[in-house]
Amino acid sequence: PIRIGVLTSGGDAPGMNAAVRAVVRTGISHGCEVYAIYEGYKGLIQGGTLIRRMDWSSVGGIIQRGGTIIGTARSAEFRTREGRRQAAANLVTLGIDRLVIIGGDGSLTGADLFRREWPELLAELVAAGTISEAQAAAHPHLRIAGIVGSIDNDFCGTDMTIGADTALHRITEAIDAISSTAASHQRTFVIEVMGRNCGYLALMGAIAGGADWAFIPEMPPQMDDWEQHMCDVLRIGREHGRRDSIVVVAEGACDRHGKPITAHYVKKVLEERLGEDTRVTILGHVQRGGAPSAFDRWMSSLLGATAVEELLNADADAEPKLIGLRENRVVRLPLMTCVSDTRQVAEAIAQHDYERAIAMRGNSFVE
Ligand code: F6P
Repeated sequence: PIRIGVLTSGGDAPGMNAAVRAVVRTGISHGCEVYAIYEGYKGLIQGGTLIRRMDWSSVGGIIQRGGTIIGTARSAEFRTREGRRQAAANLVTLGIDRLVIIGGDGSLTGADLFRREWPELLAELVAAGTISEAQAAAHPHLRIAGIVGSIDNDFCGTDMTIGADTALHRITEAIDAISSTAASHQRTFVIEVMGRNCGYLALMGAIAGGADWAFIPEMPPQMDDWEQHMCDVLRIGREHGRRDSIVVVAEGACDRHGKPITAHYVKKVLEERLGEDTRVTILGHVQRGGAPSAFDRWMSSLLGATAVEELLNADADAEPKLIGLRENRVVRLPLMTCVSDTRQVAEAIAQHDYERAIAMRGNSFVE
C-alpha cells in the first residue's frame, strides 16, 4: 500500500487537529496507510514510537481540540544533513515516501530541501549499509504537500492560514471583555496582540473589536510625532463622550525608522500627554490556545483532504504544492514560490519598504 506520513511543526495553531484528521481519514479512504509523526521533525529523526500508524478512530474526537495532538517542536537537528539522513532512513524502513507537512515557512523550506536531497540521502544510506538497494529502489522519490499552520496569517498565496480565524475570535472576545471594564472606569487600555511581523491579527482585531487606534508592522505611523496625532484623536473621542479608549498594538509594530512601538511605551505616552488612567494587557498565548473556530475546522479539513489527493495524483517529480485557500476555494500553489514570497515580505518590512510588503502579502483583503 501507499504509505503517507503527516506531521505538524513550528508553533501550534488551532485547526491543526482537523487537518491531521482529514489527512488520516482521506488516506485510509483511498486505501493508504497513514502514519502520524509525533513532535514534528524531531519525531521523523528519532523514529520508533514517535512514528505511529493511525486508524480511523485514532483521530476521533479531535476536531474540536486546540493545539496539535501529535505534538510539534522546533528541530535544530533537521537542519543538519545528518539529521535528514536519519529521517530518510526511518521513512524508507517503514516504506513511507509521501509527507503532509503542516507548519510555517521554516518547516516547509526544510521539507522541500529534504525532498530534493532524498535520492542522495538514500544513496548514502545504501553505501553505509543502513538500507538495502531494493529498499532505496522502491522509494525513488519523496513527495511532499505543504499546509500553512500559523495564527499569524502571514503567508503569501493563501488567504488564511490555519489558526488565524480562531486567534482573531479570541482577540475580539478579549477586546469586548476589556472594553466593558474600561468603560466602567473611563480607562484606556493598550492591548498587545501576536503576529510576528504580520499585522493581520492586530488590524482585524481592532476593526472587529471597535478599537480606537492600531499599530501594525506593515504600516507604521507616517509622521514623526505620531504620539501627538494619536493623543489628539483619542482626546477628541473622549470629548464626544466615549467612555473608554482601546489601542491595539501588534507585537511587531515599529515607527517609520524601525524603532519598536511597544504597548508599555504607548501607555507611557497616553498617561503623560493625556493624563489617562491607562492599563496594558498582553494577550499572549491565550490567542493561540483553545478550541478552533468553525472556519478553522472546515478549512483545515478541506486542506488536509486535498493534500492527500495531491500526494496521490501528482507526478513523482512535480514541484511540490502548497494547499491553501484563495477567494473561498481550495487551491494548489507552487510551494517554494509561496515560501520565497513570504520571506521577501519579511525582508521588505525589515528594509522599511512597506508598499512592497503590502503589495506582496496578497491577503490584505482591501484592494
Ligand atoms: O507564529 C506564531 C506565534 O504565536 C507568533 O504570533 C509569536 O510571535 C510566536 O509564535 C511566539 O512563539 P513562542 O510560542 O515560541 O513564544
